[in-house]
Amino acid sequence: MPPLIYAHRGASGLFPENTMESFQGAVRRKANGIELDVQLSSDNKLVVIHDHNLERTTNGSGLVRHYTLRELRQLRADKGSSMRLPKAHIPTLQEVFQSFVDSPLRFIIEMKNFFLDQPHLEELVIEQIRRYQLTERTIISTFNFDSLLRIKQLDARQTTGLLYVGPLVKPWEVASRYRADQLHVPYDQLTEDLVKQAKQHHFEVLSWTINTGRQIQRAIDCGVDGLITNYPKRARNLIRNL
Ligand code: G3P
Ligand code: CA
Repeated sequence: MPPLIYAHRGASGLFPENTMESFQGAVRRKANGIELDVQLSSDNKLVVIHDHNLERTTNGSGLVRHYTLRELRQLRADKGSSMRLPKAHIPTLQEVFQSFVDSPLRFIIEMKNFFLDQPHLEELVIEQIRRYQLTERTIISTFNFDSLLRIKQLDARQTTGLLYVGPLVKPWEVASRYRADQLHVPYDQLTEDLVKQAKQHHFEVLSWTINTGRQIQRAIDCGVDGLITNYPKRARNLIRNL
C-alpha cells in the first residue's frame, strides 16, 4: 500500500496555513487528508490555528485563548504567507468538518494542549467528530500523551497518534502505554528499522514534516503508512507512479 498523503496545516507550502483556502488547495492537489491544529477560544469554541499567539499568522496580537470566536473571526489569517488572501480567516473545526464531510477526505486533528492547558478540549473534539460521524476518517494526535489516554477513555474506537520530537527509545512501548494506535515520527528520527519494528508491534507509522522530493522518496522507501507534508502535490507526483 502506498502511503497516504496528509497536507500539513493544509497545502501550507503555498497557502496561508490552517485556513479553508489551504485545505481546499490540499484537496485540489489530491491529498488523502489534511492535518490541522485545534485549540480553544475564550468562549470555548474549537478554533483551527497553530500558535497560541496570534502574531505570526494573523493581524491580531496576544493569546488565542483570550479572544472569543467572534473576535477571532474578524482577523485576517494570511500573515506570513507568500499568498496574500485578505478573506482568509481562522476557521472552526466545525466549519472544516461541514465543508468536507461529504468528501472522502481524512483528518489529523492535532490538539494544541501541551504548553497551555485547554480544559475539556478532548471532550469537545470527540463531540464534533461524532456529530459529523467522522470517527473512521479521523486521527487525533498531540504531544500531550496523557491527553491521548483521555481520548481513548472517551472513545475507544478513536484512532490516536503518539506525536513526539527527538529520539524516543522504543516509541511503540510508549504508544502502547498511552493506548495510541500510531506513531507520528519526526522525519529526523525516521528509519526503515524503526518502521519495521513498529509494524511488528502492530503500530502504524506516519512521519512529519516531509517536504522535499528526496525526503518524500525516502519516507516511501522506509515503508511509512502516511506522510505529512506542506506540499501534497509533490508527494502525489511521486506516489502516483508507485
Ligand atoms: O502532525 C505533525 C506536526 O503537525 C506537529 O508539529 O508544530 O507542525 O504542529 P507542528
Ligand atoms: Ca500540527
